[in-house]
Amino acid sequence: MADSVTLTIDGREVSVPEGTTILQAAAAAGIAIPHLCYCPGLKGTGACRLCVVEIENVRGLVVSCMRKVSPGMVVRTSTEQIREARRFVLELLFSRHPGLCLSCEKSGACKLQQYAYELGIEHPSFPVRDPGYPVDEDNPFIIRNYNLCILCGRCVRVCRTQGSDILDFMRRGIETKVATPLEKPLLEAGCDFCGSCVGVCPTGALIEKQRRGKGREWEFSKVESYCGYCGSACHLY
Ligand code: FES
Repeated sequence: MADSVTLTIDGREVSVPEGTTILQAAAAAGIAIPHLCYCPGLKGTGACRLCVVEIENVRGLVVSCMRKVSPGMVVRTSTEQIREARRFVLELLFSRHPGLCLSCEKSGACKLQQYAYELGIEHPSFPVRDPGYPVDEDNPFIIRNYNLCILCGRCVRVCRTQGSDILDFMRRGIETKVATPLEKPLLEAGCDFCGSCVGVCPTGALIEKQRRGKGREWEFSKVESYCGYCGSACHLY
């Protein structure tokens, strides 16, 4: 069994197993650190930089979803410097996220929208570039609107864990997007339509087709489910 590590987060003493990340330790103590690319159950990548925190006697900000706790560590999760850095991260994300919140299926349940609200972002600071990708609806289950994608990579990672492994990043720089091999439609790319990618998407980029227009996120009841594709019954998030 892993040894326990005791640290201080926002003035609160917290003990967690060795190997725990700061973000996980904070969550265990009931302290929510904003995060977009981190998803419980999936390997971290430190891609979005929204989860930055301060560690006493460490220069600069630290990505809390990747940094493991150490004994005696003193962490602050919400100083003005941290909030300013998070605002900047969000504003950059909004620069390629056309503002369709009013009519977006995910409105009210979108992580990007939630954090913008919490951090007081009312208008985008940078010009917004609409990538102009066609919305993919040519299958019975999933609507893919990569104009709303923030490249957190959750869908790519969960697709790997579910065994399909048909999603990955393609192109480079501002043209980077998530796609199937040769950008084939999901039906031709070998998608099992387990729905895991929809379940982990923090924005409206991936939406379950059947529920479109049927109600808001909070009007549905949530039930735990398991993928029955291979018989291992992996938990769906
Ligand atoms: Fe930590 Fe994205 S949640 S970098």
